[in-house]
Amino acid sequence: MTGFPYLRIRSLGKAYRGATALHDFDLDVEQGAFVALLGPSGCGKSTLLQILSGLLEPDRGEIHLAGADITRLPPWRRNIGLVFQNYALFPHLSIRQNVRFGLDMLGIKGKEADARVDEALEMVGLDPALARRPSELSGGQQQRVAIARAIAIRPRLLLLDEPLSNLDAVLRQKVRLELRQLHDRTGITTIMVTHDQAEALATADRVAVMEAGRLLQYEAPQGLYRNPATAFIAGFIGSPAANLLPLVARDTASWTLPGGELWQPDAALTPARNGVAAGAACLMALRPETLALGSLGPGGLPVRIGAIEFTGGDQLVHVEAGQARLTLRLPAGTRVAGPTAWLFPPIQSPLLFDANTGRRLPTPH
Ligand SMILES: Nc1ncnc2c1ncn2[C@@H]1O[C@H](COP(=O)(O)OP(=O)(O)OP(=O)(O)O)[C@@H](O)[C@H]1O
Ligand SMILES: [Mg+2]
Repeated sequence: MTGFPYLRIRSLGKAYRGATALHDFDLDVEQGAFVALLGPSGCGKSTLLQILSGLLEPDRGEIHLAGADITRLPPWRRNIGLVFQNYALFPHLSIRQNVRFGLDMLGIKGKEADARVDEALEMVGLDPALARRPSELSGGQQQRVAIARAIAIRPRLLLLDEPLSNLDAVLRQKVRLELRQLHDRTGITTIMVTHDQAEALATADRVAVMEAGRLLQYEAPQGLYRNPATAFIAGFIGSPAANLLPLVARDTASWTLPGGELWQPDAALTPARNGVAAGAACLMALRPETLALGSLGPGGLPVRIGAIEFTGGDQLVHVEAGQARLTLRLPAGTRVAGPTAWLFPPIQSPLLFDANTGRRLPTPH
């Protein structure tokens, strides 16, 4: 068993009436980890969770949990807790009866069941004596009941499908921290689905990024931010996400911007230094918080200043470089003088991607 991960997903495939929702999906999760499954709507996140919980059968592939093949086990024999995207509480049952439901299925009765219900409700911060029906609860309280129901069975794996999506922005931030704390207290291996990158970065030990049924990258939040594997990932990680500037290598030392303008960057950012042949098209990812504005200097990119949004501690400055639009995040106090300026990208670890494949170009030595 040494070296065998706690949860091991191999070559999982699923199609709905000919339309593929999961392609050859592999994922390993360590025991006790908190993993975020991040991807846009329709990329297969809920499909994966339903297959893991046993509600949906895969067309192919295998799932191992704690060393055993669970691919064909019925849901009630997997001991996996699932919180659905819409909570799916039973409206005609009380809160306690809802939380008790999974225990009944497992044949846990009487005092033991009562104690488990109390424990689960306390863990999610609900009063175990609360005598109400789900319809008499707020969205945040319903979500807690759904989580209590999932953890009452003391699951080997907790699956959360967009658990925060029905909450308002303030509550989301509060509850995501609580979820992480609940995980740290219980040690339950957790997979949380989200399409909110900030939520994934803030809560998870590792983030699995999906696109169109495939796993694109699986990394700790810092690694994902620093080293996105594809332009797609760079283009949605960060607040705001990285700018993707389309560039064509004009010669060894300069780029052509969209619209035909010339940019002669610092030596570290030239086509030659980054192994890009003349005529090749790239995307350069520029993080809004790493860009600076200044007056004419070597390596600067000529830009026109557009709208400025004040966000509190920061300001978002929108600029145009040729026909490309970029956003900078600058401290609120920084004076921005228009109508034109020079933009200076960081010269360490440039993020360049092949414009056709979206793949990261090898970093120069
Ligand atoms: N029961 C179904 N029948 C047919 N197609 C389905 C079914 N369920 C999902 N799909 C399709 O499979 C793909 C993946 O769906 P899934 O629900 O897994 O996406 P998701 O990543 O959870 O999206 P969202 O973020 O919107 O919840 C989508 O194209 C969806 O339309
Ligand atoms: Mg979904």
